[in-house]
Amino acid sequence: MSLEVIVLAAGKGSRMHSHLPKVLHKVGGKEILKHVVDNVSQLNPKNIHIVYGFGGDMVKNAMGDSFDFVEQKELLGTGHAVLQALPNCSEDSKILVLVSDIPLITSETLTRLVDSFNETGVAVLTSVVENPAGLGRIKRDADNNVCAIIEDKDCSSEEKKITEINTGVIAADCKSLKYLLQKVKNDNNQGEYYLTDIISLACGEKIPVRAVVAAESKECEGINNKVQLAEAERYYQKKKARSYMIDGLIIIDPERVDFRGDLEFGANTTLDVNVIIEGHVKLGNNVVIGSGCVLRNCEIGDDSVISPYTVIEDTIVGAKATLGPFARFRPGCVLEDNVHVGNFVEVKKSKLSNGTKAGHLSYLGDSEIGENVNIGAGTITCNYDGANKWKTKIGNNVFVGSDTQIVAPVEIEDNVTIGAGTTVTKNVSADSLVITRAPMRTIAGWKRPVKKK
Ligand code: UD1
Ligand code: CA
Repeated sequence: MSLEVIVLAAGKGSRMHSHLPKVLHKVGGKEILKHVVDNVSQLNPKNIHIVYGFGGDMVKNAMGDSFDFVEQKELLGTGHAVLQALPNCSEDSKILVLVSDIPLITSETLTRLVDSFNETGVAVLTSVVENPAGLGRIKRDADNNVCAIIEDKDCSSEEKKITEINTGVIAADCKSLKYLLQKVKNDNNQGEYYLTDIISLACGEKIPVRAVVAAESKECEGINNKVQLAEAERYYQKKKARSYMIDGLIIIDPERVDFRGDLEFGANTTLDVNVIIEGHVKLGNNVVIGSGCVLRNCEIGDDSVISPYTVIEDTIVGAKATLGPFARFRPGCVLEDNVHVGNFVEVKKSKLSNGTKAGHLSYLGDSEIGENVNIGAGTITCNYDGANKWKTKIGNNVFVGSDTQIVAPVEIEDNVTIGAGTTVTKNVSADSLVITRAPMRTIAGWKRPVKKK
């Protein structure tokens, strides 16, 4: 039997108090709905149908076009939502229905649910929780078989005490699901067509009903407000940190690091506290990332040390580099091996070749810098004339004195020495000294003016 998935994402999520649909809020830098479809994709379904309503265009734009989007024009309940997607499902498939606000659900748990019956049947994923308020309760008969789901608003005071709840994940064969949903009525306290009513209907029709209890209740917790969003974030972060540590990453404090993307790393690599990893980051062996660093889509070679509060984005760093503290690499930088960039240096779209150093307080933009160049403190590549950006080219073994402005477009050849305070406006040929400097004057015995009384 092939598998098809229906994700219910038409609700607004009013408790989020946001113009953004609930499912587009992010956990670990990724939309809640993307987590759900990524996790469910691991089951290799034939199709994923996303039922949308509120903020539909935003949902479609964020998700891309590899899904079947089905509009639910009126939000008449979860049962009604599933009915909108069923015409797009093949009759002989198994259907997995999920609410869309459970980003932490694992593919292992979903697989257990889907595999819990063959051919005909209905299966519900349940979980036992401390505080079941607001959730549908699982009602079991004298033989401990599930016989109904009672929504919180329809529960008697006795039923409210039940702590086994419906996670909002149900699997069924397509024919039974269609048949049962057509029988669902909206005569309940919310006037909605509940998907959950198919359980008691199935029991009445002798269609087999199974319950699979989730191993960890946390992975099934729905996100309805910003408190739950933050709780899900922490759970996700701890789990991610744990799996990286198991694979050998040294994390000084797993409570104080954030992963908003994927990390690859070699042996003996360390993350200090408050590091943020975004997009795709690849770290070599023996790399040290100091506290407060933000790394986004970058690659850092073996034995490099990134000192605290350095921000690196879309950049490739070679081996044995020492960067920071407080250095900033904007997109498009390539640093070869043994490069040193120190505090308050901003580098953009530039290449720094082997052994080059820029120790302090500089701006290097749109430049190509050779090997073993020393960039003195306060050096600025003036790459922008107010209209266009221009390139600076510096050869090998160039010494740039402090407080130098290099007005691009310009080329400085190998072995040039630039005196401190120079403004370079023309190309400089190899092996020369270049200097622009007003002569120094000393006026002996100079008296400073004094304030008039
Ligand atoms: C639902 C379940 C409840 C379960 C809980 C788990 C029903 C009737 N209740 O309750 O048993 O314990 O989830 O979190 O199924 N949606 C639509 N169209 C609609 C209504 C809802 O697409 O007309 C979507 C929402 O976007 C949401 C999901 O269905 O993702 C669940 O809807 P919600 O209103 O949050 O149901 P709960 O009251 O949480
Ligand atoms: Ca919900």
